[in-house]
Amino acid sequence: MKITVVGTGYVGLVSGACLAEVGNDVLCLDLDKEKIRILEEGGIPIFEPGLLEMVKRNVAAGRLHFTTDIEQAVAHGTIQFIAVGTPPDEDGSADLKYVLAAARNIGKYMTDYKVVVDKSTVPVGTGDKVRAAIADELKARGIEVPYSVVSNPEFLKEGAAVEDFMRPDRIVVGAEDEQAIHLMRALYAPFQRNHERLLVVDIRSAELTKYAANAMLATRISFMNELALLAEKLGADIELVRQGIGSDPRIGWHFLYAGCGYGGSCFPKDVQALIRTSNGVGQPMQVLQAVEAANDRQKHVLVDKIVARFGEDLSNKRFALWGLAFKPQTDDMREAPSRVIIEELFKRGATVTAYDPVAMHEAQRIFGDDGRLTYADQPLSALEGADALVIVTEWKEFRSPAFDTIKAKLKSPVIIDGRNIFSPELPRAAGLEYYGIGRK
Ligand code: UDX
Repeated sequence: MKITVVGTGYVGLVSGACLAEVGNDVLCLDLDKEKIRILEEGGIPIFEPGLLEMVKRNVAAGRLHFTTDIEQAVAHGTIQFIAVGTPPDEDGSADLKYVLAAARNIGKYMTDYKVVVDKSTVPVGTGDKVRAAIADELKARGIEVPYSVVSNPEFLKEGAAVEDFMRPDRIVVGAEDEQAIHLMRALYAPFQRNHERLLVVDIRSAELTKYAANAMLATRISFMNELALLAEKLGADIELVRQGIGSDPRIGWHFLYAGCGYGGSCFPKDVQALIRTSNGVGQPMQVLQAVEAANDRQKHVLVDKIVARFGEDLSNKRFALWGLAFKPQTDDMREAPSRVIIEELFKRGATVTAYDPVAMHEAQRIFGDDGRLTYADQPLSALEGADALVIVTEWKEFRSPAFDTIKAKLKSPVIIDGRNIFSPELPRAAGLEYYGIGRK
């Protein structure tokens, strides 16, 4: 099949590469010339396991191409994916300007039938706006060309995006005409494993499903984070409570980990957008307001623990930070707890030496050449003379350190673990003070 993907960000590039991988002829459009230059030179503008190899393989096979030429992109695919950004605007609603501009461009240049598929996370009702934008452009041209609009939200996780696309749990397709449904079924046939995973629903339900999934997951995390703080006050251990509730199949094991707050490009933005949407139709979701407030507070919990241990004035103190990315396997620092932690430490006069396997260049971009933030080339070298070790991201390589060495390098023998990656008795046996989240 001939497919165009508009937008070579996270979702667009992963979708384009994976669709090419199964044999489609894919053209990716981006107006950002720099991004297209990187892609054409065999690189990728983001870090995502397995993606670079997949892009290279498909470019070499002649199934994956890149362009900045809108007219060429519209002419190419019968299926036109819109996978552009929907950044929050000032009030937290999703800003649709890029989505609607992409729709207008399709209307401006299309000459034959197109299925226009929304893959960006968009508020309920966007399908209608996309349809209207295309209709407008066709009307201005004084022609009629048939087209369908489809909503096909993406559930991929950063760090596992390629795997999630290639082996999805479900594929939600919001479509309301047979021709589009037929094409979407054919498109996704290679991704069905042993049972039907494609769920055809109406467009609005598909749009809401995306927000519902992310908001539900964020709710679980904020719930566990609040419960962890409560456990601390009550002298209980959140890890044991987690095991006790996760074993109930109605609750399940996933997304029950208390920590220093959720970040990333999806949860914070989508929770906010759903709050706006629900307020906008007079059906406010009070649960979600609490989810957001609890998460904002949770990003301060590690600094609260530091202050409880070292006092409010942290001048002349330096903290070693393990982990900058909002989660492992990515260099993404959008809404990352590390950003709040670093800022709060700076405010109290402290300096920070950070180590992250892939996100240090991103931190450099965000914090610039701020002398208060320095970088270490190894986890252990960040500790030399630092007042405490603060763990913010649960990278695998942090999980089994030599606690004796940590103790020897630190000025005060303190570990503040924002992801509960250690059993408390191990650092304690080495003579370290250990503070986790909700641990006894
Ligand atoms: C999320 C959704 O999982 C994905 O389906 C959607 O398409 C996009 O948003 P992503 O943002 O990549 O994916 O990260 P995810 O792995 O879901 O983690 C989000 C945040 O929650 C991270 O900051 C992580 O540290 C935190 N988290 C996750 C917890 O604090 N506790 C948990 O138990 C799980």
